[in-house]
Amino acid sequence: MPDLEITHPQIYDYLEKTLAEDHPILREMGDYGRAQNFPIIGTQVGRLFYFLARSINAKQVLELGSGFGYSAMWFALAVGQGGRVVMTEGAQSNVERARDYFSRAGLLERVEFNVGDALELAKKYSGPFDIIFCDIQKHDYPRAISIARAKLRIGGILIYDNMLWHGRVVSESDSDTNAVVETTRALMNDDEFFTTLVPLHDGQSLSLRVK
Ligand SMILES: C[S@@+](CC[C@H](N)C(=O)[O-])C[C@H]1O[C@@H](n2cnc3c(N)ncnc32)[C@H](O)[C@@H]1O
Repeated sequence: MPDLEITHPQIYDYLEKTLAEDHPILREMGDYGRAQNFPIIGTQVGRLFYFLARSINAKQVLELGSGFGYSAMWFALAVGQGGRVVMTEGAQSNVERARDYFSRAGLLERVEFNVGDALELAKKYSGPFDIIFCDIQKHDYPRAISIARAKLRIGGILIYDNMLWHGRVVSESDSDTNAVVETTRALMNDDEFFTTLVPLHDGQSLSLRVK
């Protein structure tokens, strides 16, 4: 079965035209990601994350799988001065690119760059974090829940991207898809979190830490 469009293509285009990347460096990063077909969260989801971060006055954010820093840039803008975004990324070249963008944006003091396995690197940080965002290889998704349990404050939000996985959640059963479905089920059955799923772009789960 071919991948499914999560949002009707005309609605998707409307949202893309309507929702802007306000910051010039963010626009540059978005243009690079789109031109390279690099799987960034994009404007629609970036604005949602900015909204969530500002809504809970987030100051400490942990990202698992930062790429070249596009989603981290949205969070860095949201946390404001004195806030911190901990980035983790497996590819050195992506981190170097991210460093350049943050340097030119004048926001280096808001970010920490870490190269290596995100789940290992997260062990260095005790938290508490206001937001933990997971965007690593899908088969590792279930493992990030215990990180959130240990490091996310009550009232904080655990976010996963690609939770509709291009529609494969309704038709496929490979290891990545199974891990996405397993993570969704685990979160929905976990009384420490109140979870919902937003069908924007490729789908994001939002889990509010309630106890
Ligand atoms: C979908 S991209 C991240 C995009 C980024 N969150 C954004 O929206 O701008 C996933 C990134 O995670 C990295 N990655 C995947 N699994 C990882 C892991 N276990 N540890 C560290 N990085 C990982 C990949 O190298 C890739 O750059």
